[in-house]
Amino acid sequence: MTALAPAKLNLGLEVIGRRPDGYHELATIMQTVTLADRLTLEATEPAELGGTAPVVFTVDDPALGEENLAHRALLVLRARAGRANGAVAHLEKRIPLAAGLGGASADAAAALLAGCRLWDLHLPSGKLRGLAAELGSDVPFFLRGGTALVTGRGEAIAPIRPLRDLWFVVVTPRPAAPIPRKTAALYAALLPEDRSSGARVRAHAERLDRGVPLDPDALANAFSRAVYGLRPELRRGAEALLGAGAPWAALSGSGPSHYTAVPHRSVADEIAARAASLAEPSDAIAVCAPHLGPPPVRPGGPDSDPV
Ligand code: C5P
Repeated sequence: MTALAPAKLNLGLEVIGRRPDGYHELATIMQTVTLADRLTLEATEPAELGGTAPVVFTVDDPALGEENLAHRALLVLRARAGRANGAVAHLEKRIPLAAGLGGASADAAAALLAGCRLWDLHLPSGKLRGLAAELGSDVPFFLRGGTALVTGRGEAIAPIRPLRDLWFVVVTPRPAAPIPRKTAALYAALLPEDRSSGARVRAHAERLDRGVPLDPDALANAFSRAVYGLRPELRRGAEALLGAGAPWAALSGSGPSHYTAVPHRSVADEIAARAASLAEPSDAIAVCAPHLGPPPVRPGGPDSDPV
C-alpha cells in the first residue's frame, strides 16, 4: 500500500480563547497542498500462537524517530480494530518538520486511511474521526483534506469551494535552535491582544465559498507576534518571499513557514528561485498547488504513483 500525506497551509488563523479543557478555540481556513510525505506499508501475518505481530516503522529523516504520530496511528488503529496483523512501514519525509505545515498530522491521517485498507478494516467514519481527534487536533481535517473552515479545537470542519488556479511558494526558515514542544509553547505564549472573535476568518471563508479570490488582507495569523518574539530570525521567511517579488507573505500555523500565492506556475518558480538566493542554505523552499480531497492511497509498493 502506498499513501501520500499532503501538507496544509493556514489561510488566516484566529485564536478566540482558551477552553476549560486547556485547548484553544480557533478559526482558520486550512488548505491541503501537493507538498506531501509518502508512506509505504506491507501487511504481515499475526505472530504464531495468536500473538500480535509488530508494526515495524522506519523513516528516511533521522530527525524524526520511530516514535512518530503515524506509527502511533497504526498502533492505535489496530488495537481499536482488535487485529493481530502487523505491518512494515516506511515514511519518506518531504514536509519540513515542526514547520506549521501539519506534517505529523498529515502522516497520521494517511496512516489511518492506509491502515484501514491494508488490514481491511471497516471502521465507521465517525469512529475514524474520533480516533483522528485523539491523535491530534489537526488530524481530523487531514482525513478529508481540500479547503475547509476549521473551528473548535480543530475538529469542526466545514468544507468550502476548492481553490483553483493558484500556486503557492512556501519558505520554511530553520530556527537557530528548535522551539521545544513548539505548538504548545506558542499557544502558551499568546497574549490577550493576540485573540480575536473569528469573524474575519469566517467572513473570508464565506467569500471564498462564493468564488471570490483569496484575499491577502484576510490572512493574518494570531501566532505572528509570538513566533517573532520567540525567534526574531524567523522573519526571514517573509523577508525572503517579499525580497523575491512575492505580492505578500503569510504565516502558516504556528510557523515558521511563510507562503505566498500567485496564479501561474512560472511566476511561482521564479519567486522560489530568487527566494532561495535570499534565504539561508538550510531553509526549505517548495512550490506547490492546492491538493483536492483526502490522502491518496493505492495498492502497490513505493514505485507505484498514488497521485
Ligand atoms: O492536539 P495537538 O496534540 O496537536 O496539540 C498540541 C498542543 O497544542 C496541545 O497540547 C495544546 O497545548 C495546544 N493546542 C491548543 N489548542 C488547540 C490545539 C492545540 O491549545 N486547538
